[in-house]
Order: sequence, then structure tokens, then C-alpha cells
Amino acid sequence: MTSTTQYIGKPFKNVDAEDKLTGATKYITDMRFDNMAWAYPIFSTVPFGAVRQIDLKAARSVPGYIDVILAERIPGENQVGVIVEDQPLLAGKTVRFIGDVIGIAVAETAAAAHRIAKLVEITYTEYEPYFSIAESESATSQFIHETNIACSHRILKGDPAAAFRKSDLIVEAEFSTGSQEHFYLEPQGCVAFPEKDGQIVVMGSLQCPYYVQKAVARALGRPLDGVRVIQAPTGGAFGGKEDVPSELGARVALAASLINRPVKMIYKRSDDIQITSKRHAFSMRYKVGVMRDGTLQAAEITLQSNAGAYATLSSVVSYRSTMQSMGPYVVPNIRVNSTAYYTNLPPAGAFRGFGSPQVAFGHERMMDLIADRLDMDPVRLRLKNVLKVDAKTITGQQLSASVGAEETIRQACRISSWETNQATGSTDGRYRYGQGIAASIYGNCLGAAGWHMDGAGVNISIQRDGTVKVAFGLAEMGQGALTVVAQMTAEALGIDHRRVVVLLTDTNSVPDSGPSVASRNVVMTGNAIRDAASKLLPILKAAAAELLGCGADDVTIGSDLATDSKTGTEVGFAELADYLYRGNQPTEMRGWWHVPQLDFDPDTGQGEAYFTYSYATHVARVQVDTLTGQVQVRGVWAAHDAGTVINPAGLEGQVEGGVAQATGWALTENILVDRGQIITSNLSTYLLPTALDAPPVETVAVEDPDPRGPWGAKGVGEPAFIPAAPAIANAISNALGVEVYELPLTPPKVLQLLEEQEPTAGMP
Ligand code: MOS
Repeated sequence: MTSTTQYIGKPFKNVDAEDKLTGATKYITDMRFDNMAWAYPIFSTVPFGAVRQIDLKAARSVPGYIDVILAERIPGENQVGVIVEDQPLLAGKTVRFIGDVIGIAVAETAAAAHRIAKLVEITYTEYEPYFSIAESESATSQFIHETNIACSHRILKGDPAAAFRKSDLIVEAEFSTGSQEHFYLEPQGCVAFPEKDGQIVVMGSLQCPYYVQKAVARALGRPLDGVRVIQAPTGGAFGGKEDVPSELGARVALAASLINRPVKMIYKRSDDIQITSKRHAFSMRYKVGVMRDGTLQAAEITLQSNAGAYATLSSVVSYRSTMQSMGPYVVPNIRVNSTAYYTNLPPAGAFRGFGSPQVAFGHERMMDLIADRLDMDPVRLRLKNVLKVDAKTITGQQLSASVGAEETIRQACRISSWETNQATGSTDGRYRYGQGIAASIYGNCLGAAGWHMDGAGVNISIQRDGTVKVAFGLAEMGQGALTVVAQMTAEALGIDHRRVVVLLTDTNSVPDSGPSVASRNVVMTGNAIRDAASKLLPILKAAAAELLGCGADDVTIGSDLATDSKTGTEVGFAELADYLYRGNQPTEMRGWWHVPQLDFDPDTGQGEAYFTYSYATHVARVQVDTLTGQVQVRGVWAAHDAGTVINPAGLEGQVEGGVAQATGWALTENILVDRGQIITSNLSTYLLPTALDAPPVETVAVEDPDPRGPWGAKGVGEPAFIPAAPAIANAISNALGVEVYELPLTPPKVLQLLEEQEPTAGMP
């Protein structure tokens, strides 16, 4: 778009940036309440076992001791599983990972609560734990839950066996990808306080307020209207604050209601890393059949993921990875089986991409392997098979509009000068150079599996002075949601954006809008804003017509004015707002949007998996140090089809952040576990990319507007991450001339790759 829009497509800096930069923003840890007590989780120190005895004697002697709360004091249901009901709020008998919370220590100070939590003596009968997918899969008794399988998903399309027989070439490979810690800068934290009217209020650093509301209501045995959840400014989440805050929220709410005081709980970083969810580690087997000209014929894919001790979001991750397992390509015959296995590790859960980055590593390494075997240019192979309008996805869904996949490949090549910069395996002393490309697909919003809750709302309230308050049901967690919501509201109402104030989410203000996940804010909230505006604009026009003495049809609204298009006379928005109040007119409107009905068969994995898709292609260039094995990503060139871009500055920010985070997952972030204990639980051992490691990024938008998106927009938060790691891996493969089958590619692994390539090489 878009000469006709005033705010859509214009770069805006984040409205909350200045307060965050100056330290003015008050996070949950800054908030104090009168008479506030502190809580801390008491958690299992064994990976798998039965609780035999709990001795509170030493804990009770700690000065400032208030209470230790165990499972039997939960008045409602002891259940916090978000999709599968497999997770107790407080483990009563069985503990399934180091970090499984057994009780809540409550004290006058944070330090005392920590001390009490340490001094509670728990004895266990230990069981033999399962840590790997293979161990979990081969178990025959003493399962972690009723079985060791958390969930499974499948696709069967066409006749893969026959298509393999017809194929000129069959390429097979196995891949594995590592787990990843979210490492949001602000650890998990919540505070709860009982109100005099009986409502319990929970404030927290969280991304899904309605999940927390449900979890608290369930644990306390209350109706939803007895629980109010207010989002505190949230310092990063990335999926890590999707379901986890439901646990914290329900635990502080339980403590607050039992002692009838405000109670706060903030996780220490090392405990946060041990207790809370991670990205799923994946093992993948790909078998792809292809014709000599590069046309993909058949695929058989087995995905296995390590779910950890509880299912949490595993079914979402497994579903999405299945539906996107061959990326943005046409494959007429395909079978996919995906299974998530319980293990005695911290639960794997939601993390930016929900399984997409893992399968993107699989399908994009496959594309390079196939191109290599066919002696075909990897870009040409991708272009030959890429999805277009009217093509069918691997779920048999015919794409009707906004399929910018091909253009993202072309644009990524263009801005990176892919062809002229062929740095294949070039060498400069101890350094090798290479470049890689990767394309990806991302189904917007919750998809067929989560369709029932894929609605979201806004509440737009015009104040008497012409300022406009917007409450929305999804959450700002650092991604720029407040900014795009303000832009879209100003655009929809034709008013100056400075009139608009967007509020952090409060379950009292907007109906259950589902989770703030799956890159769904722009699409869901944007459409809800348009719905609210479609109800407010006729009221504003009628009021303006009365003020201007013209017909309502003659009134145009825009540029912060209502104008009589016949005479040119105008009335400002503030005056119009005041007139609404005097004229007994509505000044507040709810907007709502639900994703269109999806036709999908889970037994065959055929149908409309998602209502639309975002596409992206990244090109990465690397320098590999053959002496140390260190990889420096020298640049990433990113092309994104997110439909119409609402905030180009926001898009750039998302892509820079996504690429930095993916660089860590690809190269340095390596969670080391010793018998269920994470030993990389701080920044000196868990190596996040610093500003010096984050590559320079150039981003280009391929704007292929989606008729179902607001102003044509689609989501980009997760797509920003997805193709980066496979592009880096392909670049390393290109630099070294060896195939790459696993992530992360830490320096020791890169040195190992070099040895494979030069079995007789000595010191460089
Ligand atoms: Mo996110 S993985 O969409 O919570």
C-alpha cells in the first residue's frame, strides 16, 4: 500500500521505548504493596521419583517464616496443564523433573522465602529417569505419565511409496537440533492480592493473561469473574511466558488467598532456567524423492521431539512442525509422523516459532543436499518447487492469495547479491567463507488445532477531550504491539495518532482474546480495531453532520477532522468527542475478530491447517575460523512477506532480534544437563550472542497484501527467527565443503566437521 493510508506503512518508534530506556518503566520487581509477603517455589531435586516425606522443622525456624503450602491445601483443582491435563500445580506424589514444584515457601522477605525453600527436607524414592528421546521411546514400564508419548500428529497425502519408485533420486538424512533457553531479560515474576470485594488480582510479567485467569480460577475453585489478571510491563517472553506464568500466578494467588495478604514471587535466574520451559530439541529423519529436473515428488518425514516432563505446548509445537515440515514447497506425495516424548527434563514448551525453526533446519538442509546431488543451483531448486497462488500445500490446502514465497527468495538474492558474491569455500589463511540461503513458511495464528479460541478483541473508548483509550486482549512483551495498535487505531478512526493511548492488557477490560502467541497480534487486533471502527464511524459521522448542518453521507472523516465534503467546513475530533457526550451518544465500542472457519481432518493432516501464511527467505554469510572453530556471521539479508507492513521500523526490529536470537541457537546456545540438572544456568556458561556477535541485518519487505489481514497485513514476529539458523548452517556447509546435520554448531563441533573434511590434516 499505500498512498491512501496516513499511518499504515510509516515507520514509528516504539511508544514504550523511552520509558524503558530511561528506567521509568516499573516492572513487577519494582512494585511494592502494603503488607506484602514473598513466596518462593520448593522444588524437586531429583529428576524422577515419589515424594516419601516432607520435613518442615528446619524451615519453620527461619526468621520471617509465614507458611509452607503443599498440594493438599489447594481449594480447587490441582491442575495447571494448558492443553493436556498432566501437570499438577503442586506435585503431590510424583516428581518428574528437577524443578517440579512441590510447595510454596511464604515469608516476610524474599531472602527468607528462598531460605525456607532450601531448608524444606524432602526424601524421595527415586525412579530410573529418562532423558533422551531414545530412552523415553524404548521404555516398557514405569512411564512418566500414562505413557511416555505426549502427543503425535501426521500427514498423509497422495501415494508416497509409488512416488518414490518414480523418483530419479532419493535423498535421505537425519538431523538434530538443540534446545534453547528463552533468556528473557526479565525473569518470571507475579504478584497477587486479594481485594475486599473478594476478587483476587494477579499482576505479572506474562504474555497470556487469560491463561493465567483460567489457571487461577481453577486452582482456587472460583468463577472467572473472581479473578482479574493485569499484565505488568513485560521484559521479554518469546513463548517463555505463554503457559509458565499460569503456574506462578496460581501459586501466588493461592498463597495470597490463604494468608490474606499480597504475595510476590520472582524467580532467580538460575532457578528460572532450571524450572521453566525451553525450546524442544528435535530429531528428524527426512527422505525426499526428486526428479532429475529438481521437481520434488515425494517425502517421508519422521519428527521426534523431547517434550520434557509435562506436555505444556508440545501439541502446538508438534502440530505446527508437522504442517510446515517441507517448508514453502510443493510436495504432491508425502507422509509425516511427528511424536513428542516425555522425558525427565524441564518441560519443553512455546518458543518463538513453535517447532518451525527445527523443521526449517530439516527442509532447508535437505534442499541444499538435493541441490548438491543434482548439481543444481540451490536457489534454482527452491524456485522450481516454491508455493505460489493456486498451489497446494502439503496439507492439500489450495492457496488463494498473498503467497510471497517466491518473491522473498528473489529479493533475498537481490539484496545480498547472491549470484555475484558466490564465496563458495573461499579461503583466507585460517579463515573460510561461505554463504547459505533458507526459505520458510509460517501459518498465521493458532490454526485448525486451536481454531476454537482464535478470536480476539479491543475496546476503544473515546474520552471527552478527544483522547482515545484502547484496551486490547493481546500482550505487549517487547515486540512493539502497543505501537502498531496505536497506528492501526489512528488509521481506522482517521485521527491523529497522538490522541491514542494503548493500555496493557487487563482481563477486566476485554473478553478472553486467547493467547498472545503465534505472531497473531497484528492480524487479530488489527481486524478487531477495524470492527470497532466500523461501529464508531457512523456515530461520529452522524454527530458531525449535526454539528456541521449537513447530511451524514456528506461527512468524510480523516486527518483528525470531520469535513462536510460539499462545503469544506470542518469540525475537529476533540469537539466531536465532546459533542458525543452532550448528545447522549455511545463513546465506546468493542471490536472482535475470529479467524474464519478452517476445514481440516486431523487423521490425514489434510485441509486448511492455517487461514494464511507468512513467508521469509534469509541469506547468511559466515567466516569460519579453522583454528578455533568459531563462526562469525558477517551478515544476514532478509526478505519477508508479511503482507502489508504496518510499521516498517517494527519489522526491521523484529528481524534484527529474530536473527540475533537464531544466531545464538545456531552457534553458541548449548544447554548442558547432568542427570536432569542444567549446568549452564547463567550467562557465563549459557552463551547468548552479544551485540558484537549479532550480525548486521538488511531487511526488505515483500508486500503481498492478504485480503483477510487488516490493511492486508500478516504476522512477522516468529518468521523473523525461522530461516536464519538454517541459512547460517547452509553457509557453514558451503564454507567448509562438508554437510551439516545438527545444531548448535559450537566451536568443538565445527572443528569436528573440519576433521571429517580433512582426515589427515594436522595443525593448521
Ligand atoms: Mo509463542 S512460541 O507464539 O508463545
